Amino acid sequence: MKLALETRSPLDARADVLVLGRYADPARPPAEMIALDKKLEGFLSSVLASEKFEGKPGQISHFHTGGRVAAPRVLIVGLGPRSRDVEALRRASAAAARRARDLGASSAAVFMPPDGIAARDRAQAVAEGAILGTYRFDKYLKEKNGKVLETLAVIEPDRRQHAAAREGLRVGEIRASATCLTRDLVNEPANVVTPTSLAERAQEIARAGGLEVKVLEREDCDKLSMGAYLGVAKGSHEPPKFIHLSYTPKGRARRRVAVIGKGITFDSGGLDLKTADGMLRMKDDMSGAAAVLGIFQALPQLRPPVEVHGLVAATENMPSGTAQRPGDIVRAMNGLTIEIGNTDAEGRLTLADAIGYAVKEIEPDEIIDMATLTGAIVIALGQGVSGVFASDNGLATRLLAAAGQAGERMWRMPLHDEYKEGLKSDVADLNNVSSQRGAGAIVAGLFMRDFTAGVPWAHMDIAGTAFAERDHALGPKGGTGVTVRTVLSYLAAIGGKK
Ligand code: BES
Ligand code: MN
Ligand code: ZN
Repeated sequence: MKLALETRSPLDARADVLVLGRYADPARPPAEMIALDKKLEGFLSSVLASEKFEGKPGQISHFHTGGRVAAPRVLIVGLGPRSRDVEALRRASAAAARRARDLGASSAAVFMPPDGIAARDRAQAVAEGAILGTYRFDKYLKEKNGKVLETLAVIEPDRRQHAAAREGLRVGEIRASATCLTRDLVNEPANVVTPTSLAERAQEIARAGGLEVKVLEREDCDKLSMGAYLGVAKGSHEPPKFIHLSYTPKGRARRRVAVIGKGITFDSGGLDLKTADGMLRMKDDMSGAAAVLGIFQALPQLRPPVEVHGLVAATENMPSGTAQRPGDIVRAMNGLTIEIGNTDAEGRLTLADAIGYAVKEIEPDEIIDMATLTGAIVIALGQGVSGVFASDNGLATRLLAAAGQAGERMWRMPLHDEYKEGLKSDVADLNNVSSQRGAGAIVAGLFMRDFTAGVPWAHMDIAGTAFAERDHALGPKGGTGVTVRTVLSYLAAIGGKK
């Protein structure tokens, strides 16, 4: 989709469909709506009245203008109650772009009333919503839906706001495209996205963005004593790849952040094999890694004044004659020994060494990880909310604020120290699963905290949110690209931007 700025008024905007956002506040229609109604000799208000249009979120009404304004069709989209919430605009833009596309339009021009939201934020929200909302993963389908919305213009008639709106469009497009890259990687099956292909993709992203990238092979990881990570990789024919991307800003970096993604390209459970049902979706167990790649596609374009390192300990988790066994003892990079209580608790093992690598080789100010880590977080928070665990309150607060800006629902969970008791092993420093019942997502967080060496750390458990089982406001079922926009907002805020 090509994005553009339309500087003419809604009445003069040239597009197949003119989209107008409408708050659920009938007493105060925006001036542009009144002008349009006048031009249409009251047709607009009579259509809205006869359809009982209340401006509820996502409600859409659509009619032909008969040539009385520049656009042949008008689409009114509900924004819900008046608020400063940009997510309402994002979702309305997504719904409108989808509808315009399905109505056969190839271009749309969108006007959202200014009401308390800055021009830059409005344009960004419209861009993000339209791109994310019309996302499709149809490369393997013979019969594709031929309808495509080619261009979308944001209407900003106020000349003083043109620069701000242009910047909003630019940033929105970068953030949405990064999210779509992540979605694509998650939607690709595990016979296509392997540790090797992830590493190649990271190298392409680095080349395109002028970033540094290192890919460590099994032998390199062995030299670094990453026994926890390599133990998981033992069962697979696919060679493990440890990916290290880095972005360095031009001037002085305000902070150094390590961003880590769980990169299990397929999780069969290993010898503690999953059930057929449990295994079905496990191509998505690299969603955290996919988010890291999306974030690194965007960073060189957004240029926050922060040094960022992206880490992925990529591998499959497979059963075989060479696979790690229950009861095995491995030694992680930081020296801690781990008894393998369950080979299906593999994510925390790979992350333990990725965190250990960050601490030792990068010495970051803070560590953020994203991982489809536990079924327990799905039980706790469902498919709509990611769990946030953090060893540092400031980091947690800033990350949750960024999630709020991005419109991604996240909720902080407690790292209740007493549950560490359950991770005790008789023969090693730690067991990778708890002997006690319940709180599986918290226990996984406590396990990983042992590898952070006191560096402020936040962990997002996205097992429920990385893959949507049904269509949602910002996209179709499948990979969601969750955390990409949150982390980009988080890093931008360090530089004082949104
Ligand atoms: N990748 C899974 C977590 C998962 C489960 C993601 C369901 C998405 C949906 C993870 O590796 C796993 O298998 N976790 C186990 C841990 C258990 C063995 C302690 C789980 O949650 O059941
Ligand atoms: Mn597992
Ligand atoms: Zn897993």
